[in-house]
Amino acid sequence: MNIGLYYGSETGNSEMLCEDIAAELGDGFICDIQSLADVEPAALDTGWFYIFVTSTYGNGDLPSTALPFEEALTTGKPDLTGLRFAIFGLGDQVFAETFNHGSKKLMEMLVAQGAQQVGERGLHDASGFEMPEDIALPWVRDIMDLIAADKAA
Ligand SMILES: Cc1cc2nc3c(=O)[nH]c(=O)nc-3n(C[C@H](O)[C@H](O)[C@H](O)COP(=O)(O)O)c2cc1C
Repeated sequence: MNIGLYYGSETGNSEMLCEDIAAELGDGFICDIQSLADVEPAALDTGWFYIFVTSTYGNGDLPSTALPFEEALTTGKPDLTGLRFAIFGLGDQVFAETFNHGSKKLMEMLVAQGAQQVGERGLHDASGFEMPEDIALPWVRDIMDLIAADKAA
């Protein structure tokens, strides 16, 4: 299965996490890791599975590298029916009012265009004691179990 691991990042944490997730998925998958800056929503393929990893900046916004993707989603309104994705957010509870709003925003925009979310949004808090991978790797294993169970049904 092809998996697109697409990140929105300012300081590299989300990109590093995509690399950790790809390593966790192992050889059974072909992983394509890209910045959302280089991805067109209309080019997403319903035959692939997508994992979006994004941080939050500003007033609960997506990082600047992900803003063109957001713009293309909201103005281009591509039909994403049949597209399956999971999403993991990196944020910081220091910003209590906008904690992880970037990943929430992206999740809601993808669903609004008809994409189907698999599993719950994963969340990391940079003020917590755990590293992003401590939360994201068990999370992605659960996501892959959901996909496998769906195929078996
Ligand atoms: C200037 C600045 C603004 C931020 N704003 C928010 C925010 O509004 N909400 C939030 O949950 N996290 C916020 N964060 C935390 C980042 O999302 C978090 O540190 C994340 O791990 C960064 O990941 P990245 O390196 O992939 O960009 C902010 C961080 C900085 C430095």
